[in-house]
Amino acid sequence: MRRQVGVGVATLALFAAILSLAHSAGAQPAAPAQPIAFSHQIHAGQYKINCQYCHADARRSEYAGLPSVSRCMGCHKITAADRPEIQKLAAFFNEKKPIPWVRVFKVPEYVHFPHKPHVRAEVTCQTCHGPVETMAVVGATTGQNLTNDLLNLLGLARSSTPLTMGWCVECHTTMNATKQTKAPLECVVCHH
Ligand code: HEC
Ligand code: HEC
Ligand code: HEC
Ligand code: HEC
Ligand code: HEC
Repeated sequence: MRRQVGVGVATLALFAAILSLAHSAGAQPAAPAQPIAFSHQIHAGQYKINCQYCHADARRSEYAGLPSVSRCMGCHKITAADRPEIQKLAAFFNEKKPIPWVRVFKVPEYVHFPHKPHVRAEVTCQTCHGPVETMAVVGATTGQNLTNDLLNLLGLARSSTPLTMGWCVECHTTMNATKQTKAPLECVVCHH
């Protein structure tokens, strides 16, 4: 009996080690390179520009949205106009091209995530996206993470990686219990 348990534990430990190796080998870079060196630390941190000034759709739609090039140029026709990164910005504006920003946060197609009810329930952007105003480049470790799931199973990790199902459901359960919200737990509300 004791021997069997020992073998079980050893197998699990081996499994965990293999998974963590596989994970670190295939790990995504936390922050992608962007076409223009836009910094949230400068805009939202130093100059305290409101998140929703640039991500204006968050309170009224499914998406948070990204600012148009002309919104950037509202300031940068004058501000720092001589700097190379701002000249790149001006080139997109003059050619009437959108900036091909690289997406960071993304749930799979079969998941329905609307921003509006979360913003209305006063869940702050930072709760889900981290301290963006301190980031020179926005990055995140999100999505399915086998190592973390295994640690969770063994009771060694307390919270799930952002954007996994466990993360959504954990917050819905907690907020419904403590803040009397009506965040859905039915499969069909998040998957349809
Ligand atoms: C409300 C005004 C405002 C808006 C809107 C704004 N910026 Fe800025 N931005 C600033 C200020 C102020 C600085 C700091 C300039 C300095 O260092 O003197 C800055 C700095 C920058 C820099 C660094 C320039 C350098 O190399 O030193 C980049 C790049 C930049 N902004 C890109 C953008 C982009 C892209 C957008 C649109 C998504 C945008 N900004 C929107 C005010 C703004
Ligand atoms: C001056 C405009 C501006 C302000 C203010 C601003 N952002 Fe952004 N944000 C952008 C731009 C442009 C991008 C795309 C480039 C990037 O990822 O850095 C972006 C990207 C993001 C992303 C990643 C989107 C993705 O691809 O998944 C998040 C999350 C985000 N912003 C949150 C915030 C939060 C939270 C605040 C306030 C603390 C904020 N932003 C303030 C312009 C802004
Ligand atoms: C409850 C968690 C949560 C909150 C609160 C939240 N977001 Fe998001 N955000 C997400 C998720 C999940 C995604 C990926 C959605 C997808 O792939 O459809 C996302 C995607 C984004 C994106 C990129 C795609 C898009 O919708 O345009 C931006 C930009 C963004 N969020 C900014 C913000 C800002 C700004 C706030 C605060 C006003 C905010 N978010 C509040 C979870 C959240
Ligand atoms: C930090 C807490 C938190 C996280 C994380 C979170 N939610 Fe929510 N969610 C809420 C709250 C609070 C509400 C609003 C409940 C209310 O209005 O009473 C809500 C509401 C919703 C709704 C209901 C929309 C409606 O119209 O009724 C959906 C769908 C939803 N969330 C999906 C998701 C998905 C998918 C994720 C993960 C990708 C997620 N949520 C992550 C707190 C959260
Ligand atoms: C609050 C939102 C939410 C609810 C409620 C929810 N899910 Fe999910 N589900 C997600 C998100 C986000 C993902 C994608 C991330 C991931 O795979 O963890 C997902 C992924 C899945 C996947 C794919 C997993 C994989 O391995 O690829 C299945 C299957 C699934 N959900 C089934 C269900 C069932 C069955 C229920 C009801 C008992 C349910 N979900 C309830 C948010 C939710």
